Amino acid sequence: MADIRLEGVGHSYDGGRTWALRPMTWTWRSGRAYALLGPSGCGKTTLLNIISGLLSPTVGRVWFDDRDVTGVPTAGRNIAQVFQFPVLYEEMSVYNNLAFPLRNRRYPAAEVDQRVRRVAQLLGLEEHLRRRSRRLDPGRQQIVSLGRGLVRSQVAAVLLDEPLTVVDPAMKWTLRSKLKEIHRDTGHTLIYVTHDQTEALTFADEVVVLNQGAIMQAGEPSELFLSPAHEFVGHFIGSPGMNVLPAELVDGVVRVGDAPVGRAVGQAAGKAAGEAAGELPPGPVRIGVRPEFVRLDGGVAGLAARVTGVDRMGAYNLVHARVNGHTLIAKTDASAAFEPGASQSLRFAEGRAFLFRDAVRCGVIEPLDGRGEA
Ligand SMILES: Nc1ncnc2c1ncn2[C@@H]1O[C@H](COP(=O)(O)OP(=O)(O)O)[C@@H](O)[C@H]1O
Ligand SMILES: [Mg+2]
Repeated sequence: MADIRLEGVGHSYDGGRTWALRPMTWTWRSGRAYALLGPSGCGKTTLLNIISGLLSPTVGRVWFDDRDVTGVPTAGRNIAQVFQFPVLYEEMSVYNNLAFPLRNRRYPAAEVDQRVRRVAQLLGLEEHLRRRSRRLDPGRQQIVSLGRGLVRSQVAAVLLDEPLTVVDPAMKWTLRSKLKEIHRDTGHTLIYVTHDQTEALTFADEVVVLNQGAIMQAGEPSELFLSPAHEFVGHFIGSPGMNVLPAELVDGVVRVGDAPVGRAVGQAAGKAAGEAAGELPPGPVRIGVRPEFVRLDGGVAGLAARVTGVDRMGAYNLVHARVNGHTLIAKTDASAAFEPGASQSLRFAEGRAFLFRDAVRCGVIEPLDGRGEA
């Protein structure tokens, strides 16, 4: 296994007119479980194919530890890759499909058997080992493909490109936790590509959020949730995503309309943003705050808000509130009684409302001295 380092790696499919992957420098650390999360078309497959060598990057170098593999073909990289749809030998038994990557690399017969049985047990394939792969349903065929990717020891990394797309939803949960178990078992570096935030957050030690060919932020799931570095991360992660409210920064105070909401403190965000901490220049900003951290009550200390609707979700309510011409959503207790039309006072949980400029986080809102009396 190795650290996989991308050094200024970028890719263009049209001779440099547009970047499918914008030049980036990034290290995948050996032994970690990563999710690569982003919407369709953002460059996830392009990035994986550059790591595995299926694609040669337009610019930059790819390193496995201190070995430059940029020009090394897939076969020389010792990568296992699992694709979105089953890739297997239909006429072979499940057992032989799983054994194939091992026999191909001349593992001793006893080890082949032991590894095949172990992976079959983890993936629930034991009773299918003798069956011809063609006879399995597509979901189970995909699980065999997954097994083929996981069966080897000593791989530089296992790359999984939306591997559970054709697997039914109930099975997905099981397989995801199996994957975690296999990861603990083998210590492989895993890079799991998905456009599904739940999949990413439940699977990974570290989630790398990609959008329009660039890494927006990388971090533990809780970090992405509590401390989004970019508006995109705020929207893409969370359900519903982060609220955005236009505001103005005047003399270090954040104002929505005429109402002061707090003191602006410059704050560098996560790994992808490079803004230095300190004083923020005055002017327009955008407040980003997750629905979980919007508080509504009958007091007078916060922003004037009017309830425009309530979605009852069972476990919680989503209360829509109009503030200074914009709608915010608050996630409240299912038992909280808010009626459309009611006037409320709206506040943000301390330290959970951030400031964004050009979609990049630049600060956080702190309470005004004297609790709201600016
Ligand atoms: N072989 C290709 N030729 C031209 N454009 C491509 C090719 N593969 C992908 N693209 C484009 O590159 C961008 C990134 O694609 P891709 O890496 O497949 O994204 P994702 O896997 O996140 O859906 C998209 O705009 C896509 O249309
Ligand atoms: Mg893809």
